[in-house]
Amino acid sequence: MSGHSTYQPKTGIERWLDARLPIVRLVHDSAISYPVPRNLNYLWTFGGILAFMLVAQIITGVILAMHYTPNASMAFNSVEHIMRDVNFGWLLRYLHSNGASMFFVAVYIHIFRGLYYGSYKAPREVLWILGVIIFLLMMATAFMGYVLPWGQMSFWGATVITNLFSALPVIGETIVTFLWGGYSVDNPTLNRFFSLHFLLPFMIAGVVGLHIWALHHVGQNNPTGVEVKDVRKDTVPFTPYATIKDLFGMVCFMLVFAWFVFYQPNFMGHADNYIPANPAATPAHIVPEWYFLPFYAILRAIPDKLGGVLAMGGAIVILAFLPWLDTSKVKSMTYRPIARQFFWMFVLVCIGLGYLGAMPADEPYVTISRILTVLYFGFFAALALIGIFEKPTQLPTSIADSVLGGSGARLAHATASEPNVKG
Ligand code: HEM
Repeated sequence: MSGHSTYQPKTGIERWLDARLPIVRLVHDSAISYPVPRNLNYLWTFGGILAFMLVAQIITGVILAMHYTPNASMAFNSVEHIMRDVNFGWLLRYLHSNGASMFFVAVYIHIFRGLYYGSYKAPREVLWILGVIIFLLMMATAFMGYVLPWGQMSFWGATVITNLFSALPVIGETIVTFLWGGYSVDNPTLNRFFSLHFLLPFMIAGVVGLHIWALHHVGQNNPTGVEVKDVRKDTVPFTPYATIKDLFGMVCFMLVFAWFVFYQPNFMGHADNYIPANPAATPAHIVPEWYFLPFYAILRAIPDKLGGVLAMGGAIVILAFLPWLDTSKVKSMTYRPIARQFFWMFVLVCIGLGYLGAMPADEPYVTISRILTVLYFGFFAALALIGIFEKPTQLPTSIADSVLGGSGARLAHATASEPNVKG
């Protein structure tokens, strides 16, 4: 799909630069003439939305860091100072905290889109694995960011989660002391979390660069899961088609984001985090942010601490093996009648686990969490088996065919004569 460059420098300056640093060519080939399948739906706008959100988080975060104090005795008050004294500080903070939640909304939609349309299958395995790495980095970043306001949930969340490492045999306790920088969550912990919370988004940006490089090398998947056969018939140029659709998707997403920021800025947060951290008073329920809840439920479902940690880690790491676990040759679930049922069951299982993660670790929640944890992992085992016996429904012969039916050939010829499409 990366194909030949169609960029032709027009002016002398463009030619001069192109011979020395072909950066305009790079932008042209990846954002203007780059061919995208003509049948992409709105679920394909979420990659662009994620890129926008990452930039927004970095900009708001860097400005917040100018006013924040990473010291255990001042952190909480410095956040209140941002909210009350800094010009538009409240807006910056609400954009950043709600932005984190919206970032996860977008990434979950992006991941489930990939699962439904089989975007993890060959030749997109590396693209997918890079995505899983981004997801892990996002979780680490969000976790450390939540500790910074140094409220009750910050402190106790950090204590519970860092303590999990003590379950590892032999080295566990040493790791925890190392993470804390002492013998409890305290000022050194806050300092290192602040430093890492600042660093990791730039690492995410680096991995996103690789993610998009891999994407442009293999080309986008599409709702049929049938690969591009004829660039002239099956694709349209990225600009204007994908650009305008991505922009529209982004605007809609921003409207929802703005609604939270301006009308319900604390809806996705926890009231206890407006109480300064107190190592002497444990909150009644220690609950992580909503986007961690399904994994938190898996952690608590296993009676053994080490087992819980391994199950929780495994629930994420197993995603990286999906390209090899799913044995079906057909990508899109649209043509996989049995796998599709399992997919929707998996969605419900994840929502159920999310609900249970917010509930106290009592009955009947614990038993239900155990059942759903088995079903969670069962989905991956099922994909391995279903692929062997499932009979897919009739696949379209090509992307053009699936969109344009019989008239595909005629219309595609008309598109091929457009100036941007050069095969
Ligand atoms: C900061 C986070 C991320 C950014 C900025 C990002 C960006 C993008 C962009 C721009 C695209 C192309 C547009 C689209 O298909 O929506 C894309 C595609 C893709 N992403 Fe991501 N992504 C992120 C996280 C992830 C994660 C966590 C996963 C999976 C675990 C993932 C898996 C994929 C896959 C498989 C594709 C190809 C989809 C297809 O062509 O069908 N991405 N990503």
